[in-house]
Amino acid sequence: MGRTALSPKDDPHPGLGAAVIDALPISLYVVDRKLKLVVWNSRREQGPLGRPRHEVLGRHLRDILGPRGFKATLPTLKRVFETGQIQEETVETGARLFHLRRIPVKRDQTVTHVLCWFEDITEQKALEMRVIASDRLAFLGQLVAGVAHEISNPLAGIAGCAEALASIAMHAPGKTHREAREFRELIRGEVARCERIVRSLLDTARPSQGSSADVAAVVASALRLLDRHPAFSRVRVISRIPADLPAAKIEPDFLKQVVTALAANAARAMSGGGTLSLRAACRNDEIHLDVLDTGPGVPPELRSQIFKPYFTTNPERGTGLGLAIARSLVRGRGGDLALRPRQRPGGSFRVTLKAGANRP
Ligand SMILES: Nc1ncnc2c1ncn2[C@@H]1O[C@H](COP(=O)(O)OP(=O)(O)O)[C@@H](O)[C@H]1O
Ligand SMILES: [Mg+2]
Repeated sequence: MGRTALSPKDDPHPGLGAAVIDALPISLYVVDRKLKLVVWNSRREQGPLGRPRHEVLGRHLRDILGPRGFKATLPTLKRVFETGQIQEETVETGARLFHLRRIPVKRDQTVTHVLCWFEDITEQKALEMRVIASDRLAFLGQLVAGVAHEISNPLAGIAGCAEALASIAMHAPGKTHREAREFRELIRGEVARCERIVRSLLDTARPSQGSSADVAAVVASALRLLDRHPAFSRVRVISRIPADLPAAKIEPDFLKQVVTALAANAARAMSGGGTLSLRAACRNDEIHLDVLDTGPGVPPELRSQIFKPYFTTNPERGTGLGLAIARSLVRGRGGDLALRPRQRPGGSFRVTLKAGANRP
């Protein structure tokens, strides 16, 4: 759109301008000062709102956009003709997002035409949203740093109470005494785990070198804990983790957290009862840990949502962070966490981890 148009005689490439306009990956049209259409590119002919060029050229914009569309467009067009400034906006039509530009075409300082440019930015926007999601996770890291500080006091309190209860139970009969000792060990172990998790969450950004986990042992210890949880009272658990699996390159506490998050989700999805299966195998230096349940599964329209931070279908009890954090933990160690398609109904999540050389 030069300031001085070439006459056909001077134009060394006749018709090239029009061909270029048709080649652009955007849809555009141009109106003159009487709002008659003078350009309608080939993109503009396609799609559900497209119309063939021969039906459109030379006609008034109102006839083409319809009264509503015209009413919405007119003020902006007027502004461009009056001010000679580009006007931009973003609009949503159907499921797609468009960036609209109304660009003045000037000749000898006067705006003779306006170019209306529609760029489909749906994918670009989706990418931006993913970046925002990862920013939110970074923010979460900072939040955890604050929480870590606050949480160490109550943890110390809980550990102290467990000790006190155990010493009270010293004088109780044998079985109670034994049970109290068992619970004390459990609480001690879990308090220590919380402390380690909180500490290591502080630097998830810095992958620690050389940590490795015995998958079978971690799964067994996560399940021992969940076994006592009321949500698991109607859940049958089948765990088939080969004992000779190589170690996985991840901190055992992180893996335990991932397994706990997936198992807790599965139990919640099967509140009426069902079966939770854990299986693992090693292929090509990768360990696959599958967590399967017999609940209703994840509806197709939610598949792309569930890993987003704060996405939950259970706002009363969920935080929507379980899967987001679990995924960032394994990804931080070169692995992945994904929802897998399944023939039968039910949830199916796969944790992929790098296999270490030796068992821990
Ligand atoms: N095993 C599963 N079966 C069905 N839906 C699931 C399963 N696991 C996760 N989801 C869905 O993913 C959402 C996000 O999970 P998560 O990040 O753990 O957050 P929360 O558990 O707090 O809701 C859940 O609210 C649920 O809708
Ligand atoms: Mg959860």
